[in-house]
Amino acid sequence: MMSEKGWLYIVMVCSLSLMSIEAYEVGLTFLESAVAKGAVCMDGSPPAYHLDRGFGAGVDNWLVFFEGGGWCNNATNCLTRINTRLGSSKHMLKTETFSGMFHNKAKYNPDFYNWNRLKVRYCDGASFTGDVEAVDPKTNLHYRGARIFNFVIEDLLAKGMKNAKNAILAGCSAGGLTSILQCDNFRSLLPATTKVKCLSDAGFFINAKTIIGQSHIEGFYADVVRTHGSEKVLSPACKAKMAPGLCFFPQNMVQYIKTPIFLINAAYDSWQVKNILAPGVSDKKGTWKECKLDITKCSAAQLNILQGYRQEFLRALTGFGNSPSRGMFINSCYSHCQTGIQETWLRNDSPLLKNTTIAKAVGDWYYERGTFQQIDCPYPCDKTCHNRVFD
Ligand SMILES: *[C@@H]1O[C@H](CO)[C@@H](O)[C@H](O)[C@H]1NC(C)=O
Ligand SMILES: *[C@@H]1O[C@H](CO)[C@@H](O)[C@H](O)[C@H]1NC(C)=O
Repeated sequence: MMSEKGWLYIVMVCSLSLMSIEAYEVGLTFLESAVAKGAVCMDGSPPAYHLDRGFGAGVDNWLVFFEGGGWCNNATNCLTRINTRLGSSKHMLKTETFSGMFHNKAKYNPDFYNWNRLKVRYCDGASFTGDVEAVDPKTNLHYRGARIFNFVIEDLLAKGMKNAKNAILAGCSAGGLTSILQCDNFRSLLPATTKVKCLSDAGFFINAKTIIGQSHIEGFYADVVRTHGSEKVLSPACKAKMAPGLCFFPQNMVQYIKTPIFLINAAYDSWQVKNILAPGVSDKKGTWKECKLDITKCSAAQLNILQGYRQEFLRALTGFGNSPSRGMFINSCYSHCQTGIQETWLRNDSPLLKNTTIAKAVGDWYYERGTFQQIDCPYPCDKTCHNRVFD
């Protein structure tokens, strides 16, 4: 007879391995040699990434993914990042969970499991677009995101990406914006023979007014671009038409992108609702607090406003067009980033549009097995959502 402890041990091991099946950890690589080139985090520390090497038929394929984490718009706000992982590699966690689009098992990630899969840590505060030579002597703040971007690509080319057959520039949130703003730059840095596409997860931030009709995100982005010297990497065709700060919005420049691109976004993106539509400064009484944490707690009047936000989101997509090289998966969930988590990427209960998972839609588009351009019916019609509930 096995002892009680023995059984307990078996039960524990089994539940631990069940938990770990959907995700595993990958270590952190610091890019020390980037420091000499000034391609550094806000505090001057080296940038870093998590790389899981490709294997088998995937050795020459690269998924280059940029992490998100909002933006800082001026020295005061950027300084608050210096003692966190969003401003310094000294504070980054030494491992990162790989799941969903990063999984190394075909069952969880059928089209990309054997690719070189990479997550670049975010520590510049401007979606990897900044490039200011001067370092503020008082604060020691560095604005060098674009240099980090270029350094990472050079580093990867030297590590084998120069032979890439396939490559995807991807990212989520502020990193999803990177994959839009830097899409054609990425294309130009890779060999002409590489099949290159871009994938933005929750990176389509729109220029909308707040619940009290104030302009909020527009001025914030203008400050980000000014503070970080981001205008150099922004679309020239867009800058010919409007102020650089406005060219930080995908809706004003996406029509000029030449490289194939796919957008995954919730029309009621939870970050956008919390920070663009109903930021704290526009909701001093906190009437939106509960609704922002959990969409099922929104009043009828608030849901009306959310439906208006969806309409505005869909209007902002107009310039994206419907070329077959462009894909989109715009669902009506209350979420933000759906690629890096198994439950939203590919599982038997994952979000669907036209009965298709995000994993399949992206794979079909990348490998040209079919086109995919789907916009969901309005909330709450979609029963496949994994709506976020915040504490
Ligand atoms: C920095 O930005 C914040 C948020 O937009 C603003 O409240 C603050 O006044 C700004 N600080 C300076 C010094 O401009
Ligand atoms: C949806 O897809 C699943 C799995 O691919 C399939 O079994 C099912 O019949 C499809 N349902 C509809 C309504 O097309």
